Amino acid sequence: MEFSIKNGNPEKQRNDCVIVGVFETRKLSAAATAIDRAADGYLGGILRRGDMEGKLGSTLLLHNVPGTLCDRVLLVGLGKEREFREREYRQAVQASVRALDGSGANDAASFLAEVPVKKRDLAWRIEQMVELTQSTVYRFSHPQCKKAEERRGVTKLVINVPHRPELKLGDAALKRGLGIASGVRLARELGNLPGNICTPTYLAGQAEALAKDYSIKIEVLERADMEKLGMGSLLSVARGSRQPPKLIVLQYSRGKPGQKPVVLIGKGITFDAGGISIKPAAEMDEMKYDMCGAASVLGALKAVAEMDLAINLVVVIAASENLPDGDASKPGDIVTSMSGQTIEVLNTDAEGRLVLCDAMTYVERFEPEVVVDVATLTGACVIALGNHASGLFGNSESLVKALAGAGEASFDRAWPMPLWDDYQEQLKSNFADIANIGGRAGGSITAACFLSKFAKKYDWAHLDIAGTAWVSGKEKGATGRPVPLLTHFLMARAEA
Ligand code: BES
Ligand code: MN
Ligand code: ZN
Repeated sequence: MEFSIKNGNPEKQRNDCVIVGVFETRKLSAAATAIDRAADGYLGGILRRGDMEGKLGSTLLLHNVPGTLCDRVLLVGLGKEREFREREYRQAVQASVRALDGSGANDAASFLAEVPVKKRDLAWRIEQMVELTQSTVYRFSHPQCKKAEERRGVTKLVINVPHRPELKLGDAALKRGLGIASGVRLARELGNLPGNICTPTYLAGQAEALAKDYSIKIEVLERADMEKLGMGSLLSVARGSRQPPKLIVLQYSRGKPGQKPVVLIGKGITFDAGGISIKPAAEMDEMKYDMCGAASVLGALKAVAEMDLAINLVVVIAASENLPDGDASKPGDIVTSMSGQTIEVLNTDAEGRLVLCDAMTYVERFEPEVVVDVATLTGACVIALGNHASGLFGNSESLVKALAGAGEASFDRAWPMPLWDDYQEQLKSNFADIANIGGRAGGSITAACFLSKFAKKYDWAHLDIAGTAWVSGKEKGATGRPVPLLTHFLMARAEA
């Protein structure tokens, strides 16, 4: 999809389709009013006859509207004007893209970004429109999986701004939106790939390709390197797999020399069968998504590189499979992490924390400003927060605040959860320094507590994306979250 920012009159657009909004109770948006005037009340007539009620997300495609220069006018229902907020705006934008999907319209001009949204400025509305449009037209395809269908519908979208002086702001917002959209796309592509294609080795290859495209430094640590470093915890997870584990390390250094880097760590379990503590069969296929943390940190890196952000960023991916095998870790096994702490592996399905903890010790060498790990870590987080917010934990109030703010700004929200010492009790082991599970109560919190034991040397936060990284059911697919959150967080860092 090609985008551009323009300032013009809706009735004077010479293209395949002009997109304008209509509120409930027949109130026209400014752009719809302009068309209605040029068309001598044509739109008003349609609304009076009841063919379009303005219900949120409804659409009506009109052809040859008098007084206009375009082939079509798409009316998009915006719902009640008083209730028109972020969610409603996003729904309307999505509906507009879907309505043109499969139509003969190739290039369109959308006037929806002109419609005021409470608390959100024009730049936000443009950025969101770009991201939403890109993700609405996204379809998974891969030569070994499903061939790409030929897509009919809009390929060029002009986003209109109400006033000329806003063109510059619009262009900047467009650039941000495109950067984030490209990161989201990468995260979705990787997430959706099956476990037999997307292995730790494949992830390393993808990271190498990204590094090459944007001149980013990369190093991939192999099993032998990890053995030398004493990563007994990470390696214990990989024991049951024929696929070698990888620790992928990318260094993007476009900030001030000497400035401490932000470190992002992604959980890259390319398939999580649970190991010897094997999972039930139902929906186990979705455990191919257990590398979405890794996909999202790569996506954020891509977005940052696309935008050429002036920041020092290190991205680390702990990649492995988690499978049962004669050589796999057994419940009760005790392993020694790189930090020196011993871990009693009471449940081999709590493997995310086992690979992350060694990556967390490894990144100490970068003397990070802050460390954020991203992981599909616990089913319990989905019970706590559902599918709308990622779980947010951390040992630094300001870092947690910054991440929550970035989630709010990008509408890719995360919600703070407690990390009190009271919960640490649940991780006590009679046989090792720490157990890898803390019982059913507060499962996402005890998981975060486990990680906090490995974050003693820096400010750290943890995003549990088990509920947000993909959707189940008929529309099953990776969402690309939390790439928008992470990118906004990094953009704010680059400005500061
Ligand atoms: N990858 C899963 C978490 C998960 C499960 C995410 C379902 C999304 C949907 C993780 O490795 C896991 O298995 N966690 C266990 C932890 C338990 C054994 C303490 C869980 O959540 O059941
Ligand atoms: Mn697991
Ligand atoms: Zn897992």
